[in-house]
Amino acid sequence: MREEAGWNKHLVGKWMSDVEKNDLVFWIFYEDHTMQKAVGSSGIDLNGLDKDLSDPQSLKACIAHTFVYPEHRGKGYGREIALTCINYAFQELNLKEVTVCIAALNVASLKLFLSLGFEEFKRKQMNWAPQKPYDATNWNALAVFMRKYRTE
Ligand SMILES: CC(C)(COP(=O)(O)OP(=O)(O)OC[C@H]1O[C@@H](n2cnc3c(N)ncnc32)[C@H](O)[C@@H]1OP(=O)(O)O)[C@@H](O)C(=O)NCCC(=O)NCCS
Repeated sequence: MREEAGWNKHLVGKWMSDVEKNDLVFWIFYEDHTMQKAVGSSGIDLNGLDKDLSDPQSLKACIAHTFVYPEHRGKGYGREIALTCINYAFQELNLKEVTVCIAALNVASLKLFLSLGFEEFKRKQMNWAPQKPYDATNWNALAVFMRKYRTE
């Protein structure tokens, strides 16, 4: 899927090794149960480099690599995918906090996570490479760190 999408495909090898180490939970989401057509993907980074985002000691992890194919955007898949990650983090992994790191220019993603109850707690300059062909944004930009706590 990443090969096809061209979005972060250079990172797939590392993600697979993180999955094997139980440092990353990763999903590909399909249109329906026939699993013929992928609509997007997402993951939960359990043990990343930045402890503000993921830290097993603090029962905190980061929703990462969320992606919906452009032709499927605006149909509610992104919200469903993010909710799947949040629910899995709180109910299955028993975490206390989920975070997300979003480029400040990424209005769609910021609005999505704000609407799901995330709150900003930090801003930081990042050095992401542009992800062609689908990302037109210059990702060498300011990132917004957001978090949501488990309530029950
Ligand atoms: C961010 C992304 C996952 C959203 O996926 P999506 O399937 O289009 O999102 P949804 O249709 O479920 O929309 C959910 C909410 O997101 C926000 N949103 C989505 N697209 C938006 C846009 N173009 N402009 C503003 N807000 C937008 C809205 O709040 C929307 O809720 P609403 O429809 O009630 O207003 C998708 O745009 C994407 O894959 N972008 C590229 C990769 C990326 O930036 N990933 C996030 C990294 S942190």
